[in-house]
Amino acid sequence: MTTAEHTLPMGGLLATLQSIVGSAHVLTGDDLASYEQDWRQRTRGKALCVVRPCTTGEVARVVTACAQAGVPIVPQGGNTGLVAGSTPDASGTQVVLSLRRMAAVRAVDPDNMTITVEAGCILQEVQAAAEDAGFTFPLSLGAEGSCTIGGNLATNAGGTQVLRYGNTRELCLGLEVVTPQGDLWDGLTGLRKDNTGYDLRNLFIGSEGTLGVITAATLKLFPKPAARLTAWATLPSLENACRLLAMAHQHLAAGLTGFEVMNQCALGLVDKHYPQLRVPLWQQTPWCVLIEISDAESETHARSMLERLLEAAIEEGVVADAILAENMRQAHDLWHIRESITLAQAAEGLNVKHDISIPVSQIPAFVRKADNALAAIAAGVRFVTFGHLGDGNLHYNIQAPAGADNRAFVAEFEAQISAIVYDTVRQFRGSISAEHGIGELKRDTLPQHKSPTALALMRSIKSAIDPHNIMNPGRLLSV
Ligand code: FAD
Ligand code: MLT
Ligand code: ZN
Repeated sequence: MTTAEHTLPMGGLLATLQSIVGSAHVLTGDDLASYEQDWRQRTRGKALCVVRPCTTGEVARVVTACAQAGVPIVPQGGNTGLVAGSTPDASGTQVVLSLRRMAAVRAVDPDNMTITVEAGCILQEVQAAAEDAGFTFPLSLGAEGSCTIGGNLATNAGGTQVLRYGNTRELCLGLEVVTPQGDLWDGLTGLRKDNTGYDLRNLFIGSEGTLGVITAATLKLFPKPAARLTAWATLPSLENACRLLAMAHQHLAAGLTGFEVMNQCALGLVDKHYPQLRVPLWQQTPWCVLIEISDAESETHARSMLERLLEAAIEEGVVADAILAENMRQAHDLWHIRESITLAQAAEGLNVKHDISIPVSQIPAFVRKADNALAAIAAGVRFVTFGHLGDGNLHYNIQAPAGADNRAFVAEFEAQISAIVYDTVRQFRGSISAEHGIGELKRDTLPQHKSPTALALMRSIKSAIDPHNIMNPGRLLSV
């Protein structure tokens, strides 16, 4: 694989880009911070320019021009990614291709239960369009007010409804993609069955902008449930949380749509930084769980199902205490607490994040082992452990001891901490990235956790599709 080399003068490229998208949509200069800084403030790059096309045709022409000039492209949606994959490097030679102006809902097909949207649609807008059409689009995550469906697809985002509906990959039926050569692949089918060779759609999903630019997608819609109910439960241990999950599967079957776990430290940070959210019961328990049920029948039915589950769990000593949201407002408030953990942790200061998955049955043993190993190397570290227990996906994050200098702590301990965490993940046959992707932050860790054969196949795919390494170089795979 060769690295992109410049073959045209940059001024010529900028003029070409301006002629394609209009000069107002080629941004240059020192005021590009929101495009150059990653969400976690881990890296700050420098773009040659930011280009904001508004049609697929414009994207294709922009990519062609960049490819001809040998200039790398960094696709960007909402820039909410957590692994530093959507911002340029520091060279000042990469073009950030922002999809945000491509935000149209192209079509809704109620009988096929699909919606076709452009890549720059904000996730919340896709959800609203589905709702307006009488359906639900179930992808849901804390960044839904600012992340785009293109970014969700490129990272194969997970979120809080995976348990019932799957991750973004499972919600997508078709894609429209501009290849690294500037060609258009129109794969926007709404087909649920199509065995006509290699699955290109699934190759682009989760490729983090390294194989092409996703410009539109056809997504699955689902019937709106008659009722949704949320409960908040306190538990003495993570073992009990796993036990409760098993009970929830038994009692609620397909009605179980969300099962999130949060430790006391995570909720304590929300309480500290957002006291107005009034986190319930957190001080009296090491763990809280948020359960959501969707019911096709009625609210009364949903309530009786959830009440029966909680009664049984309390009777068996699995759950210590529980709150059942009385209405949508209360349910929303409980979810808002859960979704605020990431922001609260960011407000507390720089931290070491891990987005791991292991079999649900092994999670308590994993946490015990990793907690003990980390406490031994850095006394007083705070374990901010939360996540999508129903998917076996934990955000196992480490914060500096209270009062310590967060930046200095991360600089001194991050490598050692992550090595221990990932080594423990390996012992449990888990993954070092459940839903956030690899980006730049985990790029150099990936080779230690993928077999040489898997890596060689991935490199072959990358060099077959993008032989000149134009698309998001240095992300996911090193060059
Ligand atoms: P960006 O950050 O702009 O880009 C992410 C990657 O996708 C980059 O590699 C970029 O090059 C590529 N990309 C973007 N658009 C395109 C395109 N059109 N074509 C090709 N490549 C493209 N993630 C989860 O999975 N689950 C969660 O629960 C979750 N919660 C979050 C909560 C908060 C508060 C925050 C800040 C983030 C959270 N995330 C979560 C991470 C993030 O929101 C997701 O990764 C999201 O899918 C990124 O979308 P985006 O539009 O912001 O993409
Ligand atoms: C979440 O589940 O809240 C997100 O994936 C974000 C995070 O890991 O902080
Ligand atoms: Zn998550």
